[in-house]
Amino acid sequence: MNTEEVTGAAGATPRELSGFGNEHSSEAVPGALPVGRNSPQRAPLGLYAEQLSGTAFTEPRAQNRRSWLYRLRPSAAHPAFHRIGNGSLRGAPFEETEPDPNRMRWDPLPEPPPGTDFVAGLWTLGGNGDARLRSGLAIHLFHANSPMIDRVFGDSDGELLLVPERGVLRLCTEFGVLEAGPGQVALIPRGVRFRVELPAGPARGYVCENHGQPFTLPELGPIGANGLANARDFVAPHAAFEESGGPVEVVNKFCGRLWAAEYDHSPLDVVAWHGTHVPYLYDLRRFNVLGSISYDHPDPSIFTVLTSPSEVPGQAGVDFVVFAPRWLVGEDTFRPPYFHRNVMTEYMGLIEGAYDAKAEGFRPGGGSLHNMMSAHGPDRVTFDRASSAELRPQRVADGLAFMFETRWPVTLTAQAADAPHRQAGYDAVWHGLEQNYPAPRPS
Ligand SMILES: [Fe+2]
Repeated sequence: MNTEEVTGAAGATPRELSGFGNEHSSEAVPGALPVGRNSPQRAPLGLYAEQLSGTAFTEPRAQNRRSWLYRLRPSAAHPAFHRIGNGSLRGAPFEETEPDPNRMRWDPLPEPPPGTDFVAGLWTLGGNGDARLRSGLAIHLFHANSPMIDRVFGDSDGELLLVPERGVLRLCTEFGVLEAGPGQVALIPRGVRFRVELPAGPARGYVCENHGQPFTLPELGPIGANGLANARDFVAPHAAFEESGGPVEVVNKFCGRLWAAEYDHSPLDVVAWHGTHVPYLYDLRRFNVLGSISYDHPDPSIFTVLTSPSEVPGQAGVDFVVFAPRWLVGEDTFRPPYFHRNVMTEYMGLIEGAYDAKAEGFRPGGGSLHNMMSAHGPDRVTFDRASSAELRPQRVADGLAFMFETRWPVTLTAQAADAPHRQAGYDAVWHGLEQNYPAPRPS
């Protein structure tokens, strides 16, 4: 599908560039986009043509991601990068601690020092795989109270799925501007440069850095042609560019480490673009939640928004899953998430409200990690309540939780293992689940 920006009548708002994986195009100045070819002898308006490849040239058409950018200066015009400090950002492979089978939970990140921008405010919890082998993921949290000023970030190691929990992220990217607040997610593709501004003050949230195959929509199988996250609800930005001079510090995450170069101009200077390797925004409130209308409830994979497939069919490098407001109507059914042990590893975060498997202790901005095969499920209070609840149709509407579910165990950074905001005694939520057998038979 081809989506072209049209400006329509004078003063009209350009229509949204909507649709997942579409061949979008956008120009901030009319005539900036060449017609009928990507790299004409002279690009329009004196711009430089440049291709940005998110997948190998030769990957199958259905997975191939690339964009053509028409910019004031080519990205190649830059001085050398030099190493800078990583702050509290870490990269895969994660080898600072031993893999830990225990169940873990954290409170939200504490307040950062004044003047902490998005990059400085990134704090890595852990991850798996190896950025150098383009496998696995890193789980970061962020807490920022200052806009990025004369500073731009790009990540060679993977795409960044940003999940704000507090505040608003204004993402000024090479492709234009997107704004994401709580309940929305934004994706910055691998290598795309961006600056984060904070139009609503301090911001906090989560980041899934996906080293593997780019996120895509899950197959729908018997669900049919519609449902879950609908492709039309993903929105790309309109082209917008900066003509500002430098100096601008361009920070690059490369194989887990931060490098920086002093540019004499902003690299956010793309006047027009077309392609498929494009930032996008999605509003989780548009997720079409499907579930059982008879008994039991489906496995939580039914809530998958985006998936990064691996070479094993059905076994994701990472799934992004949302637990959105929904109705529970199952008859003779234990309605909260069941007790389970999972070959996949689950990191959960909470954007707002409460999660229906945990009565307390799981706070917005906090998170839990249940590594491969670690046993978990509803806490004692939730179990007791759900086991005796009257099973009328029930709307679960007071929370928005999500999960990064990954095929490999997550190893913590040292700072996450030893964090003062890590909850001691998380195991206690399952205390008191005593043997009820043999229960008295119903008379
Ligand atoms: Fe689970």
